[in-house]
Parts: sequence; C-alpha cells; structure tokens
Amino acid sequence: MEYDISDLRLAEKGLKRIEWARQFMSVLTQIEKRFGKRRPLRGIRVSACLHVTTETANLLRALKGGGAQVALCASNPLSTQDDVAAALVKHFRIPVFARRGEDRRTYYKHIQSVLEIRPHITMDDGADTISVLHDERTDLLPGTIAGTEETTTGVLRLRQMEKKGVLRYPIIAVNDADTKHLFDNRYGTGQSTLDGVIRATNILLAGKHVVVSGYGWCGRGIATRARGMGAHVTVTEVEPVRALEAMMDGFRIMTIRDATRLGEVFITATGNTQVIRREHFQGMRDGAILCNSGHFNVEIDLGALRSIAKKRRVVREHVEEFTLRNGRRLYLLAEGRLINLAAAEGHPASVMDMSFANQALSVQYAVRQAGRLENRVYGVPKEIDIEVARLKLASMGVKIDTLTAEQQRYLQSWESGT
Ligand code: ADE
Repeated sequence: MEYDISDLRLAEKGLKRIEWARQFMSVLTQIEKRFGKRRPLRGIRVSACLHVTTETANLLRALKGGGAQVALCASNPLSTQDDVAAALVKHFRIPVFARRGEDRRTYYKHIQSVLEIRPHITMDDGADTISVLHDERTDLLPGTIAGTEETTTGVLRLRQMEKKGVLRYPIIAVNDADTKHLFDNRYGTGQSTLDGVIRATNILLAGKHVVVSGYGWCGRGIATRARGMGAHVTVTEVEPVRALEAMMDGFRIMTIRDATRLGEVFITATGNTQVIRREHFQGMRDGAILCNSGHFNVEIDLGALRSIAKKRRVVREHVEEFTLRNGRRLYLLAEGRLINLAAAEGHPASVMDMSFANQALSVQYAVRQAGRLENRVYGVPKEIDIEVARLKLASMGVKIDTLTAEQQRYLQSWESGT
C-alpha cells in the first residue's frame, strides 16, 4: 500500500485519539454498523480530500466498513494531525497522503496520489480534487458517479461551475444540509475558532474588543461565543440583511475601516478575499491580533502585510509578529490559515458527527442514484437531514412530540379560520 505521511511511529497516539472522538460520534457509529451489515458501498472507490483529523478518521472507517475502497489527502496544508494519518495507515490500512506543514507542491502532489485510485466518488472540503479532476485529470471524469462537498466555499465554487456549464459530474452539497451548517458552521466553527485563538496566544477574551468579519453561520458562531466569554464584539458585513441581523442580535456593526481603530482581535470568516487590507493594517492598534477562520488564507492580505512590515519574527508557535514602520506590532496567527484547525483540533467530534453522517449517507444516496443525477449541485435529500437529526436527538436521550392526527389534518386544511 502506498502512502506519504510524516511519521508512522505516531500511530498509537493517533489510534487513542480516534477512539476518543468516536465516543462522541454516535450517529456516524450507527451508520457504520448498518454499513457493516449491508455493505452498500461494495466496489466503490472514494477519494477523500478532507482535514486529516480524528473525526475524518472515523468517517473513513465507516466508509471502508461499508465496502468502499478509500484514500485520503489533506484539504489544507496546515490542518493535518500527523498521528491520525499514521493510525489510519497502520491500524486501518487506509492510504493517506498528508503531512502537516506540507508545501503547495506537495499538497497538490498528494491530491494527484489520491486520484490514482480512480474514484467513483470524490469527497471534498473546498473543492480542490474536483478542480484538479476538471483541469488536469479529465481522463478520470467518465468514471465518476458523484462528488460531495463539505464546506460553504467549496459549494459556492461548484455552483459557479454549474452556472457556467462546466461542471462535469453531479455534486451533493453536504454543507447545505440543515444538520450540517446550522450546527457545524455555527457551534463547531464558533467554539473551535476561539479555541484556536486561545491555544495560539493564551489571551484573556473577557473585556477584549473582538472584530468578527462576516455574519454567515460561521461568523455568527464566532461572534456569539466571543460574547459569551466576555468580549466586546463588533461585526463587519457587506450584506444588509445579515448586518441587520447582527445588529438586532446585539452586536455593534461598523465598516472594517472604522473597526480597525477599535479591534484588539480580528477574526475573518467571510469566504472572500482581501477583507483586511493594507490601509486597515496601517490604522490598527499596537498589539492587534489577526486571524482567519475562512477556508482559504486569502481573507487577510498577507502580501500587503509583509510588504509594509519592517521586521518579522515568530514569537511563539502559530504567532508571527509584524513590526510596521509606524512602530506598531501586529500579530498574525497560523499564517492566516484556518485558525481552528491549524492551532486547535478543528470542530469537536459531536458536531462533526452530524456533518459526517450526512457525508456517509450522501455517498450511499449518490451510489444508489448512479447515472440518474445530472451534472448539477444537489442538496442533501431532506429525509437524510431529518434522519440525522432524529438519530442525534435519540443519542442525546432527547424525546420530542409528534403531531396528533387532528394536528396533521389541521396543517393540511385551509377551511377553519378566526
Ligand atoms: N472541519 C472543521 N473541523 C473539522 C474536523 N474536526 N474534522 C474534519 N473537518 C473539519
């Protein structure tokens, strides 16, 4: 079996951590049991380009248990947990191509390696394998059945491809399932982003002025959690409705320009490029901390930051100090990459449980539908979403009411009024 990882000797540590995460992934574990009995993925080859974490390891176990042949590469150069990569290779015989801190060339080489399995199904977090397949490995396109996409940024790109008529196989937008983005993006990113900031810096959040750019589901989660820890939170947004929501949720809203003078910690979560730029850096306070929680490292203009710095040095792991010509020091965390995965461990397992249950069931659905889907971006079928919510509630020991026959009739009627 071919693989490329940092250190196979880390496998025992990785195995323990994977087992720890598994305890919190009860929905996925139930699906894994079903898959183990019925083997619905027998003969199916799945290439996965995901963050190499303990949660991803449990997803791959479930897919493999369902009969799939799987191979894994990283969806970000800085998010790989090397011990997990080692455990997957040694204990689960899953080929992994990922090394934490790999350079861009190696990152793309690893995507090519994973594609060597000639996937029927691609599984992405950020659409990188889909891009490579469409640009460089078009020979593999006829063999694909479908792909799944985990994240907002990836789904946006794929919808653009669909719109332009260049998408060459069907995609299931896992991100868009309610049981994914309402929980993973909000509570998962919310908590793990602050976890990353704290692990990187050990700052006290209480009383700090935190500026969150973007009030999508991730931004909401971050802003809410930061407020919960006692920070004064300001939100910047470009969409009027979202800005209004943030305002009425009790946050201050201002332009990023105005916020630069105020902020002590800046966190971007917009999915867009150049959110914090040269003119903003110049106006920031001495000691301001900058980080990003969006998928790509483009939200903070790193080129501009480097070009206006007279001095740069790493002051602790994941923290780089930039001294500007005006004498002020700015601190960039985790090279502007996803702070929650680079400096912490990503979203907790109990929320990834729902995201990855959606992934596993979407793969099963796509295989069942083979040949019947068009080259479009599809939502996760509503039944899957409801099934995931039901299983999650049951695993938490929570019971909910059901409609009486009378209530069902009422909802289907229009006759009775005031
Ligand atoms: N994305 C965010 N957190 C993650 C995690 N723990 N595992 C895989 N992908 C993630």
